[in-house]
Amino acid sequence: MKKYYLILLNIVSIAPGYAAFSQANTIQDANKRDFEKNIVESVKETYKENHTQQTVAFVLQKEQQYIGTCRKKFTMWEVAELMKTFTDASDPDLTRPQIIHALQVGEAMRKDKLPRAWILAGFIHDFGKILYYFGEPQWAVVGDTFPVGCAFSDAIVYPEYFKDNPDFFDIRFNSRFGIYQPHCGLSNVHMSWGHDEYLYHKVKDRLPEEVCYAIRYHSFYPYHEKGAYEHLTNDYDKKMLKWINLLNKYDLYTKDDSPMDIEALLPYYKKLVEEFFPEPLNW
Ligand SMILES: [Fe+2]
Ligand SMILES: [Fe+2]
Repeated sequence: MKKYYLILLNIVSIAPGYAAFSQANTIQDANKRDFEKNIVESVKETYKENHTQQTVAFVLQKEQQYIGTCRKKFTMWEVAELMKTFTDASDPDLTRPQIIHALQVGEAMRKDKLPRAWILAGFIHDFGKILYYFGEPQWAVVGDTFPVGCAFSDAIVYPEYFKDNPDFFDIRFNSRFGIYQPHCGLSNVHMSWGHDEYLYHKVKDRLPEEVCYAIRYHSFYPYHEKGAYEHLTNDYDKKMLKWINLLNKYDLYTKDDSPMDIEALLPYYKKLVEEFFPEPLNW
């Protein structure tokens, strides 16, 4: 498998307000997302289960179960508290609880003076991982995402594991376009089930469109990192890709083990979260 190299992004060109995020802050680290060099058995095992069991039938069932429904009411801050107890088994670069990652991303955006909605997005982008609280296994919560209902791309990490997925041999689902029309747009594509899609539906009416879009596709690495599945995207997706890249830059390159005074930082984020989400949400 090819090594994952940093794609240098010209974030400065996104919008005038983002000029603070300049080359000076560009973190180059070719070791991130190296699934060969940093082999961790739990990461491989999570992807094996993910690629074997994320089928069209599974995704449709999860969409029905979780979108527009409610298991429990939590404030966004209560979800932040839960993130203190969850570690992502699919991430070769992160071994500490999710709340640390949330703070690292938020703090990097704050340092670069991004708008408040983006700092919030940096902090909450992985909060869909609360799915684990409802009993979902890691392979249905974390990891890179990809479309189901059409051929699995070799650009997906550990593509060899798809050979045990029933859809791999199903002629309805294993052609280039499968159940989709050319350039139908990603909003018409069923993505493998996980924290991105879940959180998107919880926040889509409360945050700016570009923030929601980035949250929805931030784990779609085969597309935003490798350019796979462009045949399913439309002009809207092309226009919005820069926002995924903006979030991704902070999401990926702020993961490290440096010490952090969590308790000192939390009050700022509590205020920020309550500004955008004053009421409990249906989870
Ligand atoms: Fe994520
Ligand atoms: Fe993340």
